Amino acid sequence: MALQLFIIFALSLLLGIASAIDVFRGMEFGYSGHNGPDKWGKLNPTFSPCSTGKRQSPINIQRNLTVHNKLLKPLTRNYESANATLVNRGYSVGVRFEESPGDLWINDKNYTLQQFHWHLPAEHHIEGQRFAAELHMVHRAADNSAVVVSMLYHESKADPLFSMIMEGLKHLGKENTEVPLGTLNINELNRRPRKYYTYVGSLTTPPCTENVIWIILGKVMSISKEQITTLDSPLNSHCKKNARPCQPLNGREVDMYDELN
Ligand SMILES: *[C@@H]1O[C@H](CO)[C@@H](O)[C@H](O)[C@H]1NC(C)=O
Ligand SMILES: *[C@@H]1O[C@H](CO)[C@@H](O)[C@H](O)[C@H]1NC(C)=O
Ligand SMILES: *[C@@H]1O[C@H](CO)[C@@H](O)[C@H](O)[C@H]1NC(C)=O
Repeated sequence: MALQLFIIFALSLLLGIASAIDVFRGMEFGYSGHNGPDKWGKLNPTFSPCSTGKRQSPINIQRNLTVHNKLLKPLTRNYESANATLVNRGYSVGVRFEESPGDLWINDKNYTLQQFHWHLPAEHHIEGQRFAAELHMVHRAADNSAVVVSMLYHESKADPLFSMIMEGLKHLGKENTEVPLGTLNINELNRRPRKYYTYVGSLTTPPCTENVIWIILGKVMSISKEQITTLDSPLNSHCKKNARPCQPLNGREVDMYDELN
C-alpha cells in the first residue's frame, strides 16, 4: 500500500515537472517544424492572435490594390547618436537603444525608436516578390502602441548602417548574448523617403499583437552577401530563415504616399 502510494506520488511529481517543461518549451517559437509559424497560436495562450487575428503581418503589397492617399504626410525623422547594444535573441539579431535616439510623429502622437532588428529573407513582399532582407525599426508611444518602419534590401553592395555594427557582430555569441556598441550614429536614416506604403497590422513574431502601424519604405536598399552571412550565423538553427509567411489582407486598406504625384 505504502509502495503504491509512493508510486502515485512519484508519478504525479514527474507529470508536474513534465508539464512545467512543456510550458517552458511552449514559449519557444521557431520558423519550421513543430514550433513553426502555423503552430505559433497554439504554443502559448498569449500567442493566440497569431492564429485568430484578422489584421496580421507581414503582407504582400500589390500596387493595384493600394490607395494613393494624398492626405498622408511626409515621413520626417530626427534620429541622433545614441548608446546602443547589439542583441542576439536567438530568433533575430538586432540593436537595442539604451537611451532615446529620436522620435517619429504620426497622427499627432510621439513614437520613440526603441530597437531595430533584421529578418532574413524579407517578410513583406511587393507584387509577390521576396527580397533578401528586411530591417524593422520599432517605435513606441507612451501608451505602448507601436509604429514599425521597414526597409527592404536586395542582395548587392554593402549597407553602410550594417557596416557600423559588423565589428560587434563578430563578437556576438549564441542566444541571449549582447555586445555593447557604445554610441551609434544613425542620422543617416533621417533622409526623407519619397515613397512609402502604410497599413495597420501586427508584430510578425509572437505574441503577434495587433494595431501596429506599418510604414514600408518604397526604396529598396542593398545589403552584401557577406553581411547576410554574418547576420545569419548567430541565430538558432531553427531560426536561420526568420521570415513569417505573408498573412491575408482581410479587406484592410494599404495606402501609398508618393512625394512626386
Ligand atoms: C492585381 O495584380 C495582381 C498581380 O500582381 C493580379 O493577380 C490581380 O488580379 C490584380 N487585381 C486587380 C484587382 O486588378
Ligand atoms: C551605455 O549603456 C550601458 C548599459 O546601460 C552602460 O553600461 C554604458 O556605460 C553606456 N555607455 C555610454 C557611453 O553611455
Ligand atoms: C517624445 O517622447 C520621448 C520619450 O518619452 C521624449 O524624450 C521626447 O522629448 C518626446 N518628444 C517630443 C517632441 O515631445
